[in-house]
Amino acid sequence: LSKLDKAVSSLDWLLGNWESVEPGKGSYPSLKDFRYTEDLHFAQMGQPIINFMFNASDAETKKILHRECGFIQMQTGTNRVAFIIAQNSGLVEVEEGELVGKKLSLHTQALARPSFAKEPHVKEVSRVFQLQPDGKLEQTLSMSTDKQPMTQHLHITYSRLA
Ligand code: HEM
Repeated sequence: LSKLDKAVSSLDWLLGNWESVEPGKGSYPSLKDFRYTEDLHFAQMGQPIINFMFNASDAETKKILHRECGFIQMQTGTNRVAFIIAQNSGLVEVEEGELVGKKLSLHTQALARPSFAKEPHVKEVSRVFQLQPDGKLEQTLSMSTDKQPMTQHLHITYSRLA
């Protein structure tokens, strides 16, 4: 491994392309439950950083609903991870957390949006990525808005694409 790659080598289990095995479950007190598919892409591009892109679609209509892209950094010599994220909703986030084994727990550290973003406004996001013993990847995401306390919004499992 090059020195650049070593900086994020403890996240190498994320690298590559993933696709939901079966539709993920979306929910929120203010929403009707929904089902979605999602593909995830993590790649290194010659910097001590991982680039990522997530694309989520409605499981029935296939319409793209949600997209995120950004960068992952690790604090040198620690298990501290930062996701720097831009979302198609206009939300821009820094999420930070800890990597323990193959479990990555993240929480909003900073958040911004366009002045004309639609309501309700997201206040905090918490998510966990966990590699399962069978090699599948699981993501669980909760959020709070200016109308709802922290509540689960998403749960999905992915398998690695060849
Ligand atoms: C609705 C945030 C990811 C699908 C919402 C709402 C918020 C939100 C604030 C409005 C809730 C309300 O009206 O009370 C987020 C955040 C995400 C995220 C912060 C990621 C960090 C996703 C993903 C999907 C998704 C991956 C997958 C398709 C939906 C749908 C609705 C919704 C279908 C309801 C319709 C709509 O308002 O567009 N989300 N979401 N969201 N979200 Fe998400």
